[in-house]
Amino acid sequence: MGGAGPSTRCAPQDVQCLHVSVFVAGRYNKFSRTLPQTPWVIDGERRMESSVEELITAPLLASFRSEGFNFCSSGREDVDVRTLGNGRPFAVELLNPHRAQFSRAEVRQLQEAINTSSDKVKVRDLQIVTREAVAHMKEGEEDKTKSYGALIWTQRPIEKEDIEFINNIKELKIAQKTPLRVLHRRPLAVRQRLIHTMTASYLNPHHFHLNLRTQAGTYIKEFVHGDFGRTKPNLCELMEADTDILELDVESVDVDWPPAVED
Ligand SMILES: *[C@@H]1O[C@H](CO)[C@@H](O)[C@H](O)[C@H]1NC(C)=O
Repeated sequence: MGGAGPSTRCAPQDVQCLHVSVFVAGRYNKFSRTLPQTPWVIDGERRMESSVEELITAPLLASFRSEGFNFCSSGREDVDVRTLGNGRPFAVELLNPHRAQFSRAEVRQLQEAINTSSDKVKVRDLQIVTREAVAHMKEGEEDKTKSYGALIWTQRPIEKEDIEFINNIKELKIAQKTPLRVLHRRPLAVRQRLIHTMTASYLNPHHFHLNLRTQAGTYIKEFVHGDFGRTKPNLCELMEADTDILELDVESVDVDWPPAVED
């Protein structure tokens, strides 16, 4: 007879523990003109040794022992553009981290590890944030102001009047057709943008430094050379001179997130 024992055996199930994502935010400077923001792969082949994304995430992945990541930032710069000043806000989602608790001192050590891993990228204001807070970075991005510094070449010699003329331009409305160089990844559209102010400083007869404060999303290179008439008006037209942009730096991204972290 026997008692009414269990009729089935207990079969152990696989137990999987996944930790929810941890979000780390900060601001980065990029001091190289040969560093892309994300890995640059063409036809399965790597074109550049590293990227902003890899330099920032490598120490994070190792310390959080996470299985992967998603990187996002407030806009992005071209491979040959530096990002100076206070830097560009970014956030990294660390997927399934095996360690999630870090003290302030440990987060600071992580920042130092990123800073010392190369001379191309430095980070500040590194902090652990919530998923919701990351949304602040993307809010009203289009209405923000960005400041740039550019080295401009002109074919004809620059006159004192050119400098004054540029410095007097305020709240200039421009229309930009999607630049030829990004047309393979962006839809064709015409975007209205504002150049709030420009400040020119004479360097020599064929070069001047141009400081621009513009609405976020303005294509600066195209505003200078005109992109075969796709940006109107452009600096060539305005100055009645052939002009080109030799160097470009982002000098500030006016997004007030993430909050500053005191040293
Ligand atoms: C990392 O570099 C940035 C930018 O130069 C600096 O503001 C920050 O204090 C540095 N942090 C550490 C911990 O070295």
